[in-house]
Amino acid sequence: MTDHIRPQPGIMDIAPYQGGAAKVAGVSDAIKLSSNENPFGPSDKTKEAFQRAVHKLHRYPNTDHASLRQAIGDAHGLDPERIICGVGSDEIIHFLCQAYAGPKDEVVFTEHGFLMYKISAMAAGATPVSVRERDRTTDVDAILKACGKRTKLVFIANPNNPTGTMIGLPEIERLARGLPKQAILVIDGAYAEYVAGYDGGAGLASELPNVFMTRTFSKIYGLGGLRIGWGYGPQAIVDVLNRIRGPFNLSTAQLEAAEAAVRDQDHVDRCREENTRMRAWLAESLAEKGVPSDTSTANFILARFADEVEANACDEYLQSQGLIVRRVSSYGLPHCLRITVGDEASCRRVAHAIGQFKGLR
Ligand SMILES: Cc1ncc(COP(=O)(O)O)c(C=O)c1O
Repeated sequence: MTDHIRPQPGIMDIAPYQGGAAKVAGVSDAIKLSSNENPFGPSDKTKEAFQRAVHKLHRYPNTDHASLRQAIGDAHGLDPERIICGVGSDEIIHFLCQAYAGPKDEVVFTEHGFLMYKISAMAAGATPVSVRERDRTTDVDAILKACGKRTKLVFIANPNNPTGTMIGLPEIERLARGLPKQAILVIDGAYAEYVAGYDGGAGLASELPNVFMTRTFSKIYGLGGLRIGWGYGPQAIVDVLNRIRGPFNLSTAQLEAAEAAVRDQDHVDRCREENTRMRAWLAESLAEKGVPSDTSTANFILARFADEVEANACDEYLQSQGLIVRRVSSYGLPHCLRITVGDEASCRRVAHAIGQFKGLR
C-alpha cells in the first residue's frame, strides 16, 4: 500500500472473520463440527431444484426474488413485500449497517454475539458497542442502559451463537419498546428453526416499526455452501435496504434451491427433531464426563472447561482424533469449545473422545 492509497478510516482495525476449520493435517476423514452445519444437508427436493438450475446458467437471475419471497411468505405466514433476500444473512446484516449506521453512530450487540455485527458496523465507519451478558445470556437491561442518542442498530441473536442460549419474546418486546426512537432492533434468527414453535421474532417485526428479523438457509436448511439468507420487517426498512442491494445478488441456482427448501418443511421438522434428540444426548454425555454446558436451543453446544489451557488441550486432543470443533476465544469465551450437533455417529465419537481426554488428565 502506498501512503496515498488508503481505505476508509477504521477498515484496517477490522479483525478478519475466521471460518471454522475444515481439515486436520494428516487425517483424511476428519469430522467437521466447527461451523454449525446441518449434518444431513439439504432435502432431496432442494438438491433436485439446484440440479435443474444448471440448464439456466446462461440466463441472468430475476432481480426481485418474487418467487422465493412468496415461498418464504407462504411458509411463515408473512407478507412477501416485506421480505428481502441476500447472500446469506451476513449480507442482510451488512445492508443494515451500511444503510443505517455511519461515522459517529453506534451499533450495539452483546458480549458473546455473532462477530459479523462488529465487522459490518466497522465497515460502515460506525462504532461497535459490546454489552455484557448475564451468565452467557442476553441481558435486556444492560442493553437498554448502553443505548443512547447515537445508537442506530441493536443486534441480538436469539438463539445466540456461540452460547446457544435465548431469551423469551416478552423480553425482546420490552427491549424493542425501550430503545431510543432512532434505533432499530435486529433479531437474528439464524437458529430459530431449531426451536419448535418459535417464530424467530417475526410477530414483533410485523407489529413494531423498529424491529427487523434476519434468517438463513445455511443452518437447518443445510445450504451453508450456497449462501442464501433473508430479512423481514417494516416496509420502510425493506425499501431502504433494497436500494443498496445489488440487482443480481442471488443466482438462479440459489433462488431455486432456496425456494424448494422452504417449501419442504417436512425436512426441516425431521432435522429439528433429530437435532433436539442428539443435542440432549450430547449435553448429558459431556456433563457426565465433567464438561458442563448451558441449555442450548440451537444446533451446537458450548462446552465449558476449567480454563483456556484445558479447552485448548481438549481441542488439540480432538484434532488428533480427527474431530474438528470451534475455539471461541474471539467471542470472549477462551475456556469454551463450541461443538456442532452432528449426526449420531459424530456425537458419539466426540463424546467418547472428550471422555478419553478427561480420563487422561
Ligand atoms: C447468529 C448468526 N447469524 C448469522 C449467521 C450468518 O449466516 P449466513 O450468512 O450463512 O446466513 C450466522 C452463521 O454462523 C450466525 O451464527
